[in-house]
Amino acid sequence: MKVAIIGQGYVGLTISAFAGETCEVVGFDSNSRIVRHLNQGLSHVEGVESDQLRKLIKHGNYRATNNGSDISDAHIVVIAVPTPLTKDRKPDLGFIDAACKTIGENIKKPALVINESTSFPGTLRNYIKPAIEKYSQEKIEHLYAISPERVDPGRSDFNQKNTPRLYSGLTPEASEKTKAFYSKFCDNLVEVSSPEVAEAAKLFENTFRQVNIALVNEFAQIAHTLGISVYETLDAANTKPYGFMKFTPSAGVGGHCIPVDPTYLAAVAEEHGAPATFIRRANEVNLEMSKYVVDRVQADNSGLLEGKSVLVVGVAYKPNVADVRETAAELVIEHLRQRGAVVSWHDEVVGSWNGERSTPLSGADIAVVVTKHDVVKVRDILESAPYVFDTTGKVPGAKGL
Ligand SMILES: NC(=O)c1ccc[n+]([C@@H]2O[C@H](COP(=O)([O-])OP(=O)(O)OC[C@H]3O[C@@H](n4cnc5c(N)ncnc54)[C@H](O)[C@@H]3O)[C@@H](O)[C@H]2O)c1
Repeated sequence: MKVAIIGQGYVGLTISAFAGETCEVVGFDSNSRIVRHLNQGLSHVEGVESDQLRKLIKHGNYRATNNGSDISDAHIVVIAVPTPLTKDRKPDLGFIDAACKTIGENIKKPALVINESTSFPGTLRNYIKPAIEKYSQEKIEHLYAISPERVDPGRSDFNQKNTPRLYSGLTPEASEKTKAFYSKFCDNLVEVSSPEVAEAAKLFENTFRQVNIALVNEFAQIAHTLGISVYETLDAANTKPYGFMKFTPSAGVGGHCIPVDPTYLAAVAEEHGAPATFIRRANEVNLEMSKYVVDRVQADNSGLLEGKSVLVVGVAYKPNVADVRETAAELVIEHLRQRGAVVSWHDEVVGSWNGERSTPLSGADIAVVVTKHDVVKVRDILESAPYVFDTTGKVPGAKGL
């Protein structure tokens, strides 16, 4: 069984590593640097070890490529390319279109095409299938299915094997073959009645998180105004054994999913005349948190940030990963600089970002903790500046939300 996986990022490389245990995998990526590193056995994704990659390469079960002809005889093609937003915050299917072009122009025999990229309901049926057919020179009857990805990079308790996976094909044969493929490495497959249900479920999962994060971020502001601890209140509420799920406040949401996916749902809703006010407002609340944090820091420092050296601790979007996509740290830094602060940041997990490098965890007037990696010690954070503001709830002894 030959499997081509289009896109070798967080999702595509993770799937490649699992599928490579039983199939011949060709990882197709448009970025030649990534292809070169992967073929040297160097993983750039948390959760996929370089050793594991080298073992797969040695056994002939994995190779990376950016040459379309290398995937021409694949039996299964998995799409795992980015689905970001455009500048005006609309769904951007440009990467999906490019992946469809690669598939249409190169796959020469009927294959099973599975989309794992997150997108709005109808993407597989109304966009991917017609696009592949448009780009294909010959008339080839592929099978089409969706199986939205739920991987949480950096997480060890839930992985491809034990995270239930939704799937649905455009035809019963596509569903059956999709089940056969994923059951090689996933223990719990859940078939739904249409690709649109699977696509919508993925968006709703992340929208549920986005809205609850916004709610707790709003509550953090209310709790502060009322002079009570948001964390103690959340822990108290969390003693209820049913009907409550604890979310924690932060400087905002980051990553490729939570700040982006709900907007895909809102966009498709509004296109069909259904309001998405809740989703839109949640997005605003989360984006406004960075300003709220800087307002609090400024108020605690005699209303003046001009000329102060401020160290932002942790710029990854979440702990223990190097991923900075949509990180809340970016807006926090922007607000601080707009108010005249001299900002540097410390994050050895990220290393370099936006043309700047991680600086030592010491010697600042003010430290603002946006993300706390496990390797960073609380004591070192507290000693890095006379005033420390923590947005994570993980630095006892600091000021915070
Ligand atoms: N990262 C996550 O935690 C996560 C979780 C669930 C779902 N998803 C979804 O999975 C999809 C992929 O996300 P990701 O995090 O893996 O992205 P990523 O940016 O880590 O990786 C995407 C890869 O695709 C490559 N690429 C871009 N265009 C290409 C093309 N035309 N042909 C071949 N390769 C191309 C890029 O070079 C990159 O290596 C997105 O839709 C995302 O929303 C991501």
